[in-house]
Order: sequence, then C-alpha cells, then structure tokens
Amino acid sequence: MAIERTLSIIKPDAVAKNVIGQIYARFENAGLKIVAARMAQLSRAEAEGFYAVHRERPFFKDLVDFMVSGPVMIQVLEGENAIVKNRELMGATDPKKAEKGTIRADFADSIDANAVHGSDAAETAKVEIAYFFPVLNVYSR
Ligand code: PPS
Repeated sequence: MAIERTLSIIKPDAVAKNVIGQIYARFENAGLKIVAARMAQLSRAEAEGFYAVHRERPFFKDLVDFMVSGPVMIQVLEGENAIVKNRELMGATDPKKAEKGTIRADFADSIDANAVHGSDAAETAKVEIAYFFPVLNVYSR
C-alpha cells in the first residue's frame, strides 16, 4: 500500500468546541501522522479560492461564510491509504448520515457545520496541500 498525504481541516465549529486534540487522537490512533499543521483565520479570498470548484453550488456563500467565521486548524496527514482512511474517519458529509463513531457523527451539528474537511482524491490532495503549505510541496512525494 502506498504512503499518501492528504489535507485535513478542522473547521470553525470543531475548533470552537475545543476538540482539536480529540480529533488529532483519532488520526494518530488510525496510523496517520501529522506532518505539517497550522492554525489560521482564513480570509474570504482564501476560503473562496480553496472551494473554487464549488463556486456555482447553491451553498457556496454559506460554506465560505462558515469557513471564515472563526479559526481553523489545517494539517497534512501522512500514512498508508491516507486519503481514504481520513475520509472513513470523517464520516459522511451530512452528520445525520455519518456512521456512528466517525468524527462528523460525534462532533458535527449539521451539513453546514460539519467539523472537518478531507481531500477526496490524490490529485485534489496535491492541489490542496500546495494551497496551504506551498513550501512543504517542494518535498512532496
Ligand atoms: S461533492 O460534490 O461531493 O464535493 O460535494 P460535497 O462533498 O457534498 O460538498 C462539498 C463541500 O461543500 C460542503 N457542503 C455544504 N456546505 C454548506 N451547506 C450545504 N448545504 C452543503 N452541502 C455540502 C461540504 O461540507 C463540503 O465541504 P468540505 O469542506 O469539502 O467537506
């Protein structure tokens, strides 16, 4: 199995709930290493750029409003099958549909405030990691 990297964001709702440590423990217990991390207050331009693929979606403005509503914790996770593993840990986008024991089932309140983001594919992970960690990208696999 290939060692992969993926971009993870702990969103403003989960940061406000003070559960960064609990979410990090889930990553670590699943064998994912945190190889880069920074806390940030995203500007509107940064959030719009990050979610540019969703620009035409009806929820785009709500999503951007939410992502700039408070600090986020951004990290690069590394490990075997990291992209899928992180998505499994996160659970479904809508916490009402998320499997029991997943981050969203346990910490998210709604589809708007759903606790975490994770890259959905290898190509997306590469772009998303470079977006927030341009220097790390120099050393990417
Ligand atoms: S897709 O097509 O699979 O990428 O779409 P999806 O993963 O469902 O959603 C993309 C991101 O938009 C967020 N989202 C929403 N935000 C606000 N309101 C509504 N109704 C809504 N539906 C989806 C969703 O959380 C995804 O954000 P990220 O940060 O990628 O998880």
